[in-house]
Amino acid sequence: RQANWQRTAGKPDLGGPWELEDADGRKVASSDLHGQWVLIYFGFTKCPDICPQELHKVSDVLTSLEGQGQRILPVFITIDPERDDGPRLKRYFKDAGLHPRFIGLTGSADQLRAACRKYRVYYTRPTPEERQAGDYLIDHSIISYLVSPDGVAS
Ligand code: NI
Repeated sequence: RQANWQRTAGKPDLGGPWELEDADGRKVASSDLHGQWVLIYFGFTKCPDICPQELHKVSDVLTSLEGQGQRILPVFITIDPERDDGPRLKRYFKDAGLHPRFIGLTGSADQLRAACRKYRVYYTRPTPEERQAGDYLIDHSIISYLVSPDGVAS
């Protein structure tokens, strides 16, 4: 349905190129994911409730779609680069019981800010005090974005 809508309605002004890093520190660009359907979720691994709920929901839907022959790559982009480094992302996706193909992406604060801006993701920043204490929550938008094989987001 999305492919048809894009043909008739044109491209929405959402998404666009980004460059981040996977949990092993390898560069991953948005163009590396072209050629497949991708579902992008922005969140943080220390999120106590909303992110785990959403990520499990996404995992269930993707598993069910796979049963119908529809394969979608799930991608998690952190909005908390200070704490969500590669090793932490790796541990999280190993232990959280989520879809096995989930890719966790992190990067520099600037790279992540740029990616979030393109997807109009809203999130709060920790204060310097919270950052120093290391224990803070981030309020953020919880929207999953579907990106078509030619890189068009909705
Ligand atoms: Ni969250």
